Amino acid sequence: MTDADFETLKRSIEKILGIQCRCYKEDYIKRRLLSRMRITGKERYKDYNTLLISDKNEQELLRNALTINVTKFYRDKEVFDLLRTEIFPDIIRSKGRMRIWSAGCATGEEPYTLALIINDLTRLKPDVQVTIFATDIDREVLKKAKDGIYEKRSLENLSESQIRRHFNETGDGKFEVKNHLKEMIRFSHHDLMSGKPATNYLDMILCRNVTIYFTEEQKNDLARMFHPALISKGFYVMGKTEFMGREVEQLYEPYNALQKIYTKN
Ligand SMILES: C[S@@+](CC[C@H](N)C(=O)[O-])C[C@H]1O[C@@H](n2cnc3c(N)ncnc32)[C@H](O)[C@@H]1O
Repeated sequence: MTDADFETLKRSIEKILGIQCRCYKEDYIKRRLLSRMRITGKERYKDYNTLLISDKNEQELLRNALTINVTKFYRDKEVFDLLRTEIFPDIIRSKGRMRIWSAGCATGEEPYTLALIINDLTRLKPDVQVTIFATDIDREVLKKAKDGIYEKRSLENLSESQIRRHFNETGDGKFEVKNHLKEMIRFSHHDLMSGKPATNYLDMILCRNVTIYFTEEQKNDLARMFHPALISKGFYVMGKTEFMGREVEQLYEPYNALQKIYTKN
């Protein structure tokens, strides 16, 4: 497997999938590619490149392999419990409005979980204005997120009463998020490596389980990019297994270090 063939394959990925390979660790790309090559029985980058160029299905499968879209409702229950019991009630009480960004929202379970919690908290307070911005680099998952239709098993962390209040059964065993939650969320395409936030004046940014293949410098750049997008004392929520880099930790103060919730300094 020659370096030149690998370079050609990377150029195809950039052109066909619109994914910028230079933004990712080379090892990560190679591991993902080798896994797809094993599955498709291609031993050389060159042969896999030929397949990728001609096969739309493989393009989709490689995109998913590179961007890993795994997510679920109430992923890391303790984090959402803290938002529900402490942080959101405080923001609602003190401000009466809330702007949140779910960055790297995948198929939408994270922003819908936020919408569901906030809707329950504000049901008797119609004046509270809430907007949840939900973005991802992958247009396919964004489409699924906008549709808001899920298998019953994705809802396993929700109570029967939450499901009844916030979902309609579609007839084929699936569950569609009701409009009162959909209306709280603005889904859009955004690349976290673009250097610009999707929006500003945010009370909270959640960017969880997105940066596994980012280099340390890219992770630091993300924390630097989020900082001015947050209002004073705004919250930055990271994934449970993610870490704040030394070079940027002075920008944020731990609110709950165990749950990876920080506030802007
Ligand atoms: C594992 S999912 C995380 C979903 C959700 N935040 C959670 O914690 O359950 C990671 C998502 O990050 C998205 N992603 C990866 N790189 C990105 C980038 N550069 N900009 C925006 N989204 C990105 C992927 O497309 C994927 O949908």
